[in-house]
Amino acid sequence: MARIAYVNGRYLPRRDAMVHIEDRGYQFADGVYELCEVRGGRVIDERRHLDRLRRSLGELQIAWPMAPAALGLVMRECIRRNRVNNGIVYVQITRGVARRDHAFPPIGTPPSLVVTARNLDLAANERLAAEGVAVITVPDGRWERVDIKTTALLPNVLAKQAARAQGAREAWFVDRDGRVTEGSSTNAWIVTDGGKVVTRPADNGILRGITRTVLIEVIKAQGLVLEERPFTVAEALAAREAFVTAASQIVMPVVRIDGRPVGTGKPGPVAQALRRDFHRHAEWD
Ligand code: PDD
Repeated sequence: MARIAYVNGRYLPRRDAMVHIEDRGYQFADGVYELCEVRGGRVIDERRHLDRLRRSLGELQIAWPMAPAALGLVMRECIRRNRVNNGIVYVQITRGVARRDHAFPPIGTPPSLVVTARNLDLAANERLAAEGVAVITVPDGRWERVDIKTTALLPNVLAKQAARAQGAREAWFVDRDGRVTEGSSTNAWIVTDGGKVVTRPADNGILRGITRTVLIEVIKAQGLVLEERPFTVAEALAAREAFVTAASQIVMPVVRIDGRPVGTGKPGPVAQALRRDFHRHAEWD
């Protein structure tokens, strides 16, 4: 089946779906994005994702390319045309096309919008979660506005590649004080020896993950104690469990950090229970 992408007002076969060479997303990474989980053909936590998109656009002074409700319809149409049952829908908005100049283009330059959707292998993801993943740690050299979900992801790209090169799935960024900020495309969590669930506060040092926000509700509903505070790599290595969260993988247990086992070296019961309950607390469209 030919895959279809939405590009600036048109649904196109993917091979014909292109953006202009002077798109500011291409030239300056001057854009933002969102990625939502699709489950059973339905968009998970769309409202929260669109709220975060509104915030990202606002922080960068990029205009909506269309009303958020219309964008929701385009997302659904992409899901339908690509017959996505379990997978993801991806939305990217850039500051549009203009002759290359660092400063903003003339007022009225339309922002560019691309929407794609594809299936993911749910069973493979479950198998991965049953095994757990390895992470490495890398210094966090990113800018201070990582709370904005921008496509400017070069440090994340390099970190993820470093992880891959070492046989790991994810890289955790570590700040100058030796504390974990987040993963290259995930939020980072530990479960302490005392059973407390710890994650870094969503200040400017991390992206406020939608999965993170919903998971906090799951944690409370399960009667677990949540501590929003930074934790060190040493603390993570001494923890009972560790895991990462993101829309495309929900809760993914971490069983090794820099080659050393976390807890028993197997996915722990807290991460597994949080993963199991997540979708009961998420919003379904
Ligand atoms: N990544 N932190 C970073 C740096 C991220 O890129 C992401 C999401 C998250 C988790 O956010 P959420 O729970 O809203 O997915 C945290 C997406 C999935 C990506 O870049 O593919």
